[in-house]
Amino acid sequence: MKIGIDFGSSSLKIFAEGKGIVADDPSVVAFDSLSGNPIAFGVAADNVYGRCGNDIEISKVIKNAVVSDFVMAERMLRFYLQRVCGNRIYKPNIILSLPSNISNLEKNTFLDIITLAGAGRVCMVDGILASAIGCGIDTDKLGGRMVIDIGHHITEFAIVSLGGVAAKGVIKRGSYEIDKAIINHLKRDRDILIGPHTAREIKNKITSAIDRECETALFVSGKSCLDDLPISFEVTSSEIFPYIDEQVNLIIKEIHNEILNVSPDLLADAADHGILLCGGGSLVFDIAERLSYELDIRCEVVEEPILAKIKGLGRLMSDEKLLENNGYRFIFKDEIKNRKNK
Ligand SMILES: Nc1ncnc2c1ncn2[C@@H]1O[C@H](COP(=O)(O)OP(=O)(O)O)[C@@H](O)[C@H]1O
Ligand SMILES: [Mg+2]
Repeated sequence: MKIGIDFGSSSLKIFAEGKGIVADDPSVVAFDSLSGNPIAFGVAADNVYGRCGNDIEISKVIKNAVVSDFVMAERMLRFYLQRVCGNRIYKPNIILSLPSNISNLEKNTFLDIITLAGAGRVCMVDGILASAIGCGIDTDKLGGRMVIDIGHHITEFAIVSLGGVAAKGVIKRGSYEIDKAIINHLKRDRDILIGPHTAREIKNKITSAIDRECETALFVSGKSCLDDLPISFEVTSSEIFPYIDEQVNLIIKEIHNEILNVSPDLLADAADHGILLCGGGSLVFDIAERLSYELDIRCEVVEEPILAKIKGLGRLMSDEKLLENNGYRFIFKDEIKNRKNK
């Protein structure tokens, strides 16, 4: 059985051969702080986040797109693999996407985790290539197409042309910067503390990358810094826009700097075809319009942008020729490590 895994800073997404996407759950583990034993994974663990007492701890197992908690990341993956594969005798072959800027040590950590969790052969592919394929970009056609994947902690971009990725870059900023900006603004300017779930709700419902004429508002709850009591309050899109704007600007500036390094012909090709946007961060309202304006290249958000990378992994794993043409195959862990040591 083949399985595709996108273990992102925000969520673990799994594609199973013959079934499609079988998991899209927060990369979070709740565990007993005394025994160290996991209590809940994914959605169940995320529900506890910000709401639990001292005897339960929360681990966000992937940070900045790399493993931040080896033990819990492995336990989480093992739990999900068992759920997907059941009690099969043969170990599943796993295709895993990784950001292109990570070190060999960080790559080996991912490799150790997936083999410990139960993988047979493994294929580690460039994450932005998977995203591009998931966005419908053809990697065996001449003529560059650009894709930008705005994730939780990082943003990846690439121009894909005949034979795969022709230019790429990774920015250490993502959609999470917006959550932080909302939390910081409410604390600093209104003396209100909000939790991660509320910040996400505000971001998803009323955040926009362009200052809109019609204002939207949301009632949410938090805690007053002044008397420590619960408080329900209204927050509006125009109130938070300046803080969102600042973060969106920083992301755009860094994308722009990366694009400056691309060769003129490749960039001209990509500009002609426009940019495809994916990743959860591309769900912020009006992000395509803002990027189109700032980069002066037409941008468009693909369908189900948050699933682009895992769909791309699904396509790669079920089409051996496509995998081979992009220079990948499934191999055993020792073979990967031996190859690196030579
Ligand atoms: N509707 C939405 N509006 C704005 N941001 C969103 C929306 N839905 C999800 N996100 C954000 O997208 C990010 C997750 O995107 P994803 O591509 O899955 O990240 P990663 O691959 O890094 O785990 C999170 O920061 C999440 O809050
Ligand atoms: Mg992603």
